[in-house]
Amino acid sequence: MKTYTIPVIPGDGIGPEVIAEGMKVLDAAAQAHGFRIEWVTYPHGADHYLRTGELLSDRTLQELSQFKAIYFGACGDERVPPGVLERGIVLAIRNHFDEYVNLRPIRLLEGVRSPLRDKKPGDIDFVVVRENTEDFYVGAGGKASIGMTRSQLNISRKIYQARFDLEITSNEPIAYQVGLISRAGARRVMRYALEFARGRKKHLTLIDKANVLTEMYGLWRSEFTEVATEFRDLQTDILLVDAAAMEFVRNPERFDVVLAPNLFGDILTDLGAMLQGGLGLAPSGNINPRGTSMFEPVHGSAPVLKGLQKANPVAAIWAGAMLLDSLGENSAGKAVIHAIEKCLRNGRVLTPDLGGTSSTSGAGDEIARMLGVSA
Ligand code: IPM
Ligand code: MG
Repeated sequence: MKTYTIPVIPGDGIGPEVIAEGMKVLDAAAQAHGFRIEWVTYPHGADHYLRTGELLSDRTLQELSQFKAIYFGACGDERVPPGVLERGIVLAIRNHFDEYVNLRPIRLLEGVRSPLRDKKPGDIDFVVVRENTEDFYVGAGGKASIGMTRSQLNISRKIYQARFDLEITSNEPIAYQVGLISRAGARRVMRYALEFARGRKKHLTLIDKANVLTEMYGLWRSEFTEVATEFRDLQTDILLVDAAAMEFVRNPERFDVVLAPNLFGDILTDLGAMLQGGLGLAPSGNINPRGTSMFEPVHGSAPVLKGLQKANPVAAIWAGAMLLDSLGENSAGKAVIHAIEKCLRNGRVLTPDLGGTSSTSGAGDEIARMLGVSA
């Protein structure tokens, strides 16, 4: 029987609970569609880091590079300062494997109530393509004294003093973080998103803040204008990120594919997750179309829910469906989404975030059962 080996990193907090349900459902989907999955579990996360000092070693990354898809839970833990696990694990995977596309469907599923009154499935149905390797995520920045960086960063003393009303001395501490957009980095994700829109309703909205961050998003926008000429069969428009946030709430129907730079994409997709019923329902694929991709729920480790069996496993299960798609097992992927929808529609087994009383594993069992094979 056809067998896929899939590395899985359950991670911290509720990660292991929701990933266990994802594995259960994907196994059921595999069984129903004539293939097998062999899971290889990796211990990486807060506990492993605190015990061994390892975040994600080069050797582990090397090992993971043999696979097409990684299944990931969440990372984040109060015992570790912010940024260490995020940079050392999640962003390390995205960067190492050059997963330049972050695909985040914003779809109101049947059976779910959106906080936007009167919205039905179909009214909220778009996909955010988030650029996933550049922008303010490149990790460039530092601490310095103003005397040095003011000239380096091209900030005039007048503006700096007017803004902060500070008496600037040469050792006044400041911090700066630099964003970066490259032509090649912009073009590859733009081509991906435009191709993606071709397979949908042929509409794409570009997001930026070119009215203020004129250098970075000026380049982003001019590259887009050029690349879009190769896609004359599509309709495109451009929205500033603040207006886009408003439009997500005011008129989500207008969106089909939304293409956003990394940081704005991060923020907008948490807003999008709320439109579709909550973070418990929002999946994410970090994709390198020719390399190793990684699939994870948008939500984090939610330490307060850890071990309580209260987390909604749907985001992780849906991310698993995207993983199956990436392997070419599209009918199995579709079947998983249908099973999720059936389960949400019949409303028998809902987790507390959706107003139910079901446990995480109860919801996973029900979705697996919907796939027509015993869990
Ligand atoms: C996300 C998360 C990550 C991000 C963190 C955990 C690094 O918020 O996947 O949206 O900022 O991209
Ligand atoms: Mg985020």
